[in-house]
Amino acid sequence: MNFLITAGPTREYLDSIRFLSNPSTGKMGYALAAAARQLGHQVVLISGPTNLPVPQNVKLIKVTTARQMLTSVKSFFNRADCLVMSAAVGDYRPAHQIKGKLRKSQRVMNLKLVRNPDIFQEVAPKKKHRVFLGFALEPYLDRQQALHKLSRKKLDYIVLNTPKSFGQDRTRVEVLNQQGLIKSFKNASKSVISRFLIKLVEKQFSISPEPILVHGRREH
Ligand code: CTP
Repeated sequence: MNFLITAGPTREYLDSIRFLSNPSTGKMGYALAAAARQLGHQVVLISGPTNLPVPQNVKLIKVTTARQMLTSVKSFFNRADCLVMSAAVGDYRPAHQIKGKLRKSQRVMNLKLVRNPDIFQEVAPKKKHRVFLGFALEPYLDRQQALHKLSRKKLDYIVLNTPKSFGQDRTRVEVLNQQGLIKSFKNASKSVISRFLIKLVEKQFSISPEPILVHGRREH
């Protein structure tokens, strides 16, 4: 299978120096990329800024902003059989980005933000046979919120996690599909969780409609 995996945070710059972001380190997405590779799949990893080593034989595409991530996802989407969005994508960006340095002047400063595109929702109309695996970052393990995201984004599976997971090697997550809870990991390594998720996707893909062969290439 061809896996398209996103990882890490995105950054939205206010000026040439400062940005809005989050504490994601990319560990989950990189573990997923390594697991998919170990299980014999092709992997394109689209990553926001991280300090992690790139898993062997994985094609890495570096991005900074949510909109750059969307452009890269779109450009590799046709060839993908599965889209895994483990990136912590920033939902807003400053309405204006200042060139150079924003100098201090007023005591109170208003920051105007505009919405970033939702990457899953942008590509969902072209989903076809593809398996979508997403994450729900919630302040606590709230299954209702996760299921709501799953249906809004046309996901096959969603991994419910909390901000405690940021930067950790082991974490607590719940894996859900449309019917509800499939599996809960109380304190598992991100590599164990990743192997489970990749195998889940393999199973789902094996029952999804066959891609059509056009000139010896897979077309969907
Ligand atoms: N996601 C996305 N595009 C965005 C934001 C998030 O594709 N602009 C993806 C994430 O990578 C994740 C899933 O959607 O797989 C859910 O992300 P999450 O941050 O939990 O939820 P949001 O959709 O951003 O909603 P909210 O922040 O309101 O909870």
